[in-house]
Amino acid sequence: MNAKELRDAYVNFFKKRGHAHIPSSSLIPDNDPTVLFTTAGMHPLVPYLMGEKHPAGKRLVNYQKCIRTGDIEDIGDPTHLTFFEMLGNWSLGDYFKKESIEMSYDLLTEVLRMNINDIAVTAFEGDEDAPRDDETYSIWKSIGFRDDQIFFYGKKDNWWGPAGQTGPCGPDTEIFYDNGQPKCSPGCGPSCKCGKYVEIWNNVFMEYNKNDNGTYSPLKQKNVDTGMGLERVLAMMNGVKSAYDTELFIPVIKEIEGLSGKAYADNEKEFRIIADHLRSAVFILGDDMGVAPSKMDQGYVLRRLIRRASRYMRKLGIESGRMVGICEMIVRQYSDVYPELERNKEFVLHSIAAEEEKFGRTLDRGLRVADKMFEELGDERTLSGELAFRLYDTFGFPIELTKELADERNVSVDIKGFEERFKEHQNVSRAGAEQKFKGGLADSSDETTKLHTATHLLNAALRRVLSADIMQKGSNITPERLRFDFNFDRKVTPEELQKISDIVNDAIKAGIDVVCEELPYDDAKKCGAIGVFEGKYEDIVKVYTISGISKEMCGGPHVKNTSELEGFRILKEESSAAGVRRIKAKVGKL
Ligand code: SER
Repeated sequence: MNAKELRDAYVNFFKKRGHAHIPSSSLIPDNDPTVLFTTAGMHPLVPYLMGEKHPAGKRLVNYQKCIRTGDIEDIGDPTHLTFFEMLGNWSLGDYFKKESIEMSYDLLTEVLRMNINDIAVTAFEGDEDAPRDDETYSIWKSIGFRDDQIFFYGKKDNWWGPAGQTGPCGPDTEIFYDNGQPKCSPGCGPSCKCGKYVEIWNNVFMEYNKNDNGTYSPLKQKNVDTGMGLERVLAMMNGVKSAYDTELFIPVIKEIEGLSGKAYADNEKEFRIIADHLRSAVFILGDDMGVAPSKMDQGYVLRRLIRRASRYMRKLGIESGRMVGICEMIVRQYSDVYPELERNKEFVLHSIAAEEEKFGRTLDRGLRVADKMFEELGDERTLSGELAFRLYDTFGFPIELTKELADERNVSVDIKGFEERFKEHQNVSRAGAEQKFKGGLADSSDETTKLHTATHLLNAALRRVLSADIMQKGSNITPERLRFDFNFDRKVTPEELQKISDIVNDAIKAGIDVVCEELPYDDAKKCGAIGVFEGKYEDIVKVYTISGISKEMCGGPHVKNTSELEGFRILKEESSAAGVRRIKAKVGKL
């Protein structure tokens, strides 16, 4: 089975069982400041897991682009990836444990052709927040699993979510491929890292909400959220030890062999880092909400990926300027499944070339200076935070690059010291950093709901005052303010800003009802609704209309009437990236 067949087989299996196929959402979460990237298929679905009605119904299936960058330093081993595709199916208050587990079992055995004896499963052992999941145990038993195939674990292993600090979560049952090798110890089980058990699927029974104060309360509805890593399953099905040995990576690995004249087998770590990081970079840049490399947030993660890849390319002896060719291959390889890559190809390749060139100018000199720093350490085996920061500030060395250089010389790095300097440099106050983890999609408080509606009014006002071509390039809402990025290539004048906020305030004063309709995508487009929509044409979408001013496709939630906003004030207008402006604004009595 190849990747395309696996995606199709998964989606069709669940479509046959009443699930609607929804498109992959953007990798850059909309309206969620709690995380930088979409990390799981459930992430864009948070409002619906919390009770909002999804226009496609209560049973959903998709494959979702995901990025997890918590373990950039682990990339290079056979299992870790920063970008991956997650196959997932959801019940939004519809079926629960029994049907979910039975469907999973049918897919594993009928579609993936697995043998029940090669499967092990887990269940939640219970604690003060939620009871032991005996129901899950009984369901697996009734299917035919033996006791020695079912393992109970605590929160660390058998509880998933929330994706940020608060939101939907619950106990899960994880499904593992048991590769048949002997147990490494009597206690060996799916939570053991010896390699006998390979996790392939996670079914989360999302019936809890984690609150701000750390407590758990029942959600309005009982949901199922499942996730299966496409790359990992593909490797398993093809009997290879790693995703890097599948058709998803082989062409790029071959290309790197050609460029470097070196064999993958002798340089696995370097090859994997380059292939993984460039694939992630292509997907971050090629997203419709794509960002360019920068010093902040997603842009900074992207920069680190490109620079780390660049350093490993140099290590393999590949000359500067070759990154673009590899990235072009990746765009070609994926653009039938993710057409946005082709749409945004020029931006992807231009940004890659520019970043490689920029870093290439300082990399060699930086490596020489770093060498000298390490030499001068003498017996002192720790590189200070100050020196690590100097490598970053002068030569653009991301900290993990410095750490790797240090590791190669058996030297440690004062990471804390580096981070302190880095924070001062970014001028991110402690309060600001913590703020990042509040709010988000899980927060449908009154304040954030008002700001969602204010964002629609602002979007409409910008189109009236500046240009009908204004498009949302990003949106981020905390309980205190909205932040809205849009395409515009000059500063907005004070007079224009005044006009924009007058339009929004007039709409608030007029007390207009906010009306929600569910329409087929085509009809929504025909009636002039704006909004980024990544779906298929037959999909049903929600359209929010504020009569006389705004009509926008959106998942909600929104206020019932604009008067609830009371007033609107623009706090700041600034540049966000080349050709993109950013407005921060708040609502409330003026
Ligand atoms: N959200 C769960 C996970 O990421 C299941 O999709 O594992």
